[in-house]
Amino acid sequence: MANHQSALCHAHIVGWGMAVPEHVLTNGELTALVDTSDEWIRQRTGIAERHIAGEGETTSKLSLRAARAALEVADLDPSRLDLIIVATVTPDHVFPATACLVQDALGAKKAAAFDLSAGCSGFVYGLSVAAGLLAADRYRNALVIGAETLSRITDWTDRSTCVLFGDGAGAVVLQASHTSGGILSSVLGADGSGGELLMLPAGGSAHPATAETVSERQHFIQMQGQQVFRFATRIMAEAARQVLDQAGLKVEDVSLFVPHQANDRIIQAAARALGVPEDRMFSNLERYGNTSAASIPIALCEAIERGKVKRDDLIVCAGFGAGLTWAAVAIRWSLPLPVPAPSRRMTTRRWLHYRWARYRSWWRRLWRKVDAHLFQILYDQDGKRKRRGRDV
Ligand code: ACO
Repeated sequence: MANHQSALCHAHIVGWGMAVPEHVLTNGELTALVDTSDEWIRQRTGIAERHIAGEGETTSKLSLRAARAALEVADLDPSRLDLIIVATVTPDHVFPATACLVQDALGAKKAAAFDLSAGCSGFVYGLSVAAGLLAADRYRNALVIGAETLSRITDWTDRSTCVLFGDGAGAVVLQASHTSGGILSSVLGADGSGGELLMLPAGGSAHPATAETVSERQHFIQMQGQQVFRFATRIMAEAARQVLDQAGLKVEDVSLFVPHQANDRIIQAAARALGVPEDRMFSNLERYGNTSAASIPIALCEAIERGKVKRDDLIVCAGFGAGLTWAAVAIRWSLPLPVPAPSRRMTTRRWLHYRWARYRSWWRRLWRKVDAHLFQILYDQDGKRKRRGRDV
């Protein structure tokens, strides 16, 4: 557990944004794929539809859209970012990190970038890590993104999982400030003994991809739903209580809970366990399904858009997921809402910056090729350049 208020700086959310694919898949359409019904899905989960990424619509592209929207709200130049974290279980590649692809596309030249894998708790893990680094005065501006294209690892023949998931991304800009408020405390937890309850069996070092792993459908999500359900109903409320204790606050002080959007019955169970009315538990699960690490930032963005967040409100975000993992943060909202629209000059500047970032990336790639092939440059063991055929 971490109390972020004891340190010098406080991490405040100053920007937020979300992105979902255009294509919507309804429960009705799913009945053409598997033996299910709109009624079953709505009653057992609360989901009516989900957004599904199209061809070429990757986790990094969704992340980038959400990040640009968040930077627009923060009215921040991407070159001022010090840190980019992308929480995801569906990165574009095992490596390089999706965060590095985002860093390049944003032209965030001085930002450190890495991915974080903590299942559906990933975004809250990311908030906590970034807030810790900001509080320690290491960095001033951090971008934390939760993004997924779960549709790529969903088994569309398995009715027990394929009805649950959706694609999307949400991002926040965190800024260090000496003003109190922002991220007050965080709780992060894990129980690896439950790892097999929710996993992607193959594709890692334990079971590298082979024709067999593909034919056995081991590159798709496998989940023991009831066990995860039982764990989730207990842990969400527990994590929320712990994070409030840590900040010296009570459940009654909370204006809005933003829980991981996995199943409305889990959210309702958490509301009952915490003794809060359901209208203080934000839910938008109906329209997005479970977007894993993206679900909390997307929900937070929509809560803000719907006017459910005001300055000085206490917000608790709590999630659980593969690992097993769980995480919660308590946030004292410090920004007056709505935020003024950024000036046209700054928006144009950012637009130009993104064009420049694309050109810069293209140029750097080209230069590496030119450097290696056209000039036939090689490097010796001390890293010194040597001309092929001469010194080497
Ligand atoms: N349509 C119709 N029937 C179905 C479907 C479906 N899509 N899926 C399962 N069923 C059937 C089952 O076969 C079973 O039939 P049976 O009784 O004849 O055997 C019956 O419905 C009941 O199945 P249960 O698994 O008991 O259904 P349950 O009420 O537990 O709901 C669910 C299943 C929705 C998956 C629930 O267990 C759940 O939400 N679990 C938590 C999942 C979760 O939160 N995951 C989050 C982490 S995700 C991440 O980190 C990437």
